[in-house]
Parts: sequence; structure tokens; C-alpha cells
Amino acid sequence: MASHMNEYFRPVRQLDAENITFAAGVTALNEACALALCDPGDAILLGQYNYGAFPTDLVARTGLSFVYAAFGDSDQFSENCVKHFEAAYDQARQNGVNIRALLLCSPHNPLGRCYSQAALRGLAKFCEKNDLHLISDEIYALTVYQRPRHANESFTSVLAIDEGIIDPDRVHVLYGFSKDYAAGGLRLGCVISHNRAFTQAVRGGVCRFSSPSHFSMDIATKMLEDRPFIIRFLQDSIEALARQRVLVEALLDQSRISHLKEGNAGLFIWLDLSEFLDPYQQLDDGWAAEAALAAKLAAGGVVLSTGKRYQSPKPGNFRMIFSYDEGTLREGIKR
Ligand SMILES: Cc1ncc(COP(=O)(O)O)c(C=O)c1O
Repeated sequence: MASHMNEYFRPVRQLDAENITFAAGVTALNEACALALCDPGDAILLGQYNYGAFPTDLVARTGLSFVYAAFGDSDQFSENCVKHFEAAYDQARQNGVNIRALLLCSPHNPLGRCYSQAALRGLAKFCEKNDLHLISDEIYALTVYQRPRHANESFTSVLAIDEGIIDPDRVHVLYGFSKDYAAGGLRLGCVISHNRAFTQAVRGGVCRFSSPSHFSMDIATKMLEDRPFIIRFLQDSIEALARQRVLVEALLDQSRISHLKEGNAGLFIWLDLSEFLDPYQQLDDGWAAEAALAAKLAAGGVVLSTGKRYQSPKPGNFRMIFSYDEGTLREGIKR
């Protein structure tokens, strides 16, 4: 894994086996980061749209809470995001909340976008200034495709941020097999860190109950050591996703379904179905109207994740997975 990441993530400091700790999935390791870096009662800073399981995975058993930064109409993937994180941080401090870490999902689930290098540098600086750890869940790192007329969209790992901006001991990256290798069933993830005390805590204590199985480790080793297979697999995957993205956008446009135009990562696209919410129910409770629409779609065989699950600020957004065959995609959008 260290050689693989040195090749694909381009870290400024070369990684070796001592920097990488495996466990039974990134879910377990997200919680491990929370347990190793924070004390009960502390908080973690997070952007408002985010992976819906973070609140469960990092909070449910740890006694922590999240502080959310809201971005309004500004682009949360540009350098602009820093001032919104700063405002949320300052407000929390005034309220007596002790924030210990900033958590990023990069590339982003559910918006499918990559952070610009300037944003990552700005956030690293912000963490260094305020003694915060920077945790970056990069489970979609290699599920990043190129789209026509969107040449500037690319992924940068926080491991690749220039030296001197943030103490490497504060940076912790999560990666795994569930997304880039379509192997969620292996239950295999890893956390990458140069911080020895952190690594020791995760290896020796926190992950005691979530060791990966030797069968999974063996399969993963065989996959990673077969370089021609990995290179071909990742290339085929991003080419297929790029084709699907173009197709799904064309189908959505034909059906006049609003969707996020930006984004070139992940297996999903962010839809705005607010115009289809029941107007009477919406007046009363917009989130109930969103849940009712999700149930109606599910009854028709179309299962979409609701925006509420991703802390969307307003009802009516849905995340649609588009990595299906063309027939299924056409049928789903038609319904
Ligand atoms: C951002 C993110 N992190 C972690 C996970 C879960 O990873 P794992 O299957 O390795 O537990 C997911 C799965 O949806 C995810 O989207």
C-alpha cells in the first residue's frame, strides 16, 4: 500500500509501512481517529454538506460532537471555504466548545467534487494556526475522472500539501478498498499518518476490536502487487465513470431534472428535486416532504439517498448513483 500510495497520491514525504495502519474498514478508522485525537466533550469541525455516516461513525460512541461550517452561496471547494471554517471555529470557541480536528471528505461525498490545492493549503494553514488535527477521508481518491470542458478538476491529497505549511504529525488520511476497488465486502481500510504516537494508539489500543481478516489482507496484497492489474483496473474504472457522467447529465437534461453541473469524483450526482416536493406538505415540514418523495420514488423502484442524510441545508436534494448499465439508468430516470 505504501508503494501504491507513493505512486498515486504523490505525498511530499515518502510513505513506508510504518505510516500505514489497517483495520476492518474506513468506518472503524474514522472512529479510531476520533478516539485517538480527542477527549469526550471535544468537537470536530466539518463542512455542512458531508458524508451522511460521519455523525454516526465519529460521534455515536465517542462522546464527541460536530461543529458545522455553513458556506451559503460560496464555493466550499475553493480557498473561500477557509473563512467559513474560521467563522464556525471562532463561534464555537466563544460558546466554550473545544475543537480538536477538522474533518474533510476529499473528494467529497455527496457532491462529487475535489478541493482545490489553494483550499487545501489554506485549510492546512488554518489547522496549524489553531492546533487542530487535519483528518482527510480520501476513500474516493482514485475515483476521479476527467470530463470534457472541465480540464482543471483534479484531486490533491493532503499528503501532497507543500512542506512547511502544517506539521506532518497533525495530518491523518483515510483510505480503503470499498470505493476505488469496488470491494466493500473485503472490509479493509487504512489510516496513513507520520505521527508515531497516533499510530501507536490506533494500532495498539483503539483498533484492537477491528483487526482486518487475514483473508482480506491476502486478497488486497495480491491485488496491489499485481501492478498491471491495478493500473488497468483504475484506468477502466475512471473511463467508464467519465462516460456514465456524460450520459447521466444528458438524460437528466432531457428530463429537465436539475443537477449539480460541477464534480468529477465518485459514483454519484447531486440532484435538486425540490420542485417535485408536495407543496402543501412542504409548507408544513420540508424534510417530511423530502422523505415522502423518497418513499414515493422507492415504491417505484428508484432508491435515492435524501439530502437530509448529508446535512443538506434545504429539503429537496437527493444523491443519485450513476454507475449502472445504460438500460437501468435510462429506466430509473424515466420513472
Ligand atoms: C466518505 C466515506 N468514508 C467511508 C466510507 C465507508 O468505508 P468502509 O466501507 O471502508 O467502512 C464511505 C462509504 O460510503 C464513504 O463514502
